[in-house]
Amino acid sequence: MKIGILTSGGDCPGINATIRGVGKTAMMNFGMEVIGIHSGFKGILNEDIEPFTERSLSGILNLGGTILGTSREKPFRKLLQSNTDGVADQLLEKYHELRLDCVVCIGGNGTMKTANVISDLGMNVIGVPKTIDNDIWGTDMTFGFNTAVNIATDAIDRLHSTASSHKRVMVIEVMGHHAGWIALHAGMAGGGDVILLPEIGYDMDKINEFILGRAEKGKPYSIVVVAEGVKIPEDKKTAEFFAKEINKGTGIETRETVLGHIQRGGNPSPFDRNLATQLGGHATELATKKMFGRMVCVNGNKIDSIPLSEVANKLKLVEPDNDLIVQGKRMGINFGW
Ligand code: F6P
Repeated sequence: MKIGILTSGGDCPGINATIRGVGKTAMMNFGMEVIGIHSGFKGILNEDIEPFTERSLSGILNLGGTILGTSREKPFRKLLQSNTDGVADQLLEKYHELRLDCVVCIGGNGTMKTANVISDLGMNVIGVPKTIDNDIWGTDMTFGFNTAVNIATDAIDRLHSTASSHKRVMVIEVMGHHAGWIALHAGMAGGGDVILLPEIGYDMDKINEFILGRAEKGKPYSIVVVAEGVKIPEDKKTAEFFAKEINKGTGIETRETVLGHIQRGGNPSPFDRNLATQLGGHATELATKKMFGRMVCVNGNKIDSIPLSEVANKLKLVEPDNDLIVQGKRMGINFGW
């Protein structure tokens, strides 16, 4: 068999460990030919590829980012779906010209949608879920999330001492456009006092009352952890908006920090390296079994797989009855209300 590996969508720690897991398993255990496809799906079209060897996949386990390069593929997916300028036909032609038996697509929600589209076109594909956001439907966990939570938790830890020294409110914005998984997990692990998630929303007056209540109890500083996707007026910036509103409503000095892409850069945590390695190995195994059109996933304590058609166009969001929220509320943490 000959398989191609591509990475698409935003990068995240653990992609290279996955490429290594897929490629080494394919070459060393199953005797397959493996090529890397550069810069996402367009790499097939442009024949922007490189043959992989055991040697070329060495030394990348702990490396952040993706050695294959990546691109956001939404506009390309639209072209594919409408077959504008025969793009879908060309892609299929190239796939056959390259004599590929399967393409392993490592990516997030957008990538799984595109993978599903090209599977419908007749290409053999297997998806491997990756995102720091942890919001891919059908898998309990994505690699990259653990690393991002470690980074965000470390940042929140560091804000405590400066917040308490100055008796300030510190607002920290973490990633998570639709889903608040990073805010919830890092917020709880970092001892956040207010944790705001896109799924739950907020009432500004209640947040200010809560912060003033803390001050009255002798806790003149507070840490507010907010996911970037929490709804705010359109022309505002998330962390800045909350810092200003809190300052206005409480009179307490506030500062804001936006963690941004630091959460996505750098080396994967040991947990993510191992998860990525396992998912990679299982993706290759699926290919040998010709179980195409599926995404490998974490299901409880084991690695499983699920049809891409079930994953595409869905999101895994934080439910209001998530146990971390339930326990947090019992301990007096404010979730926006
Ligand atoms: O999907 C991962 C993610 O990091 C989101 O949390 C964030 O909203 C988005 O990507 C940022 O994308 P970009 O790197 O394209 O600005």
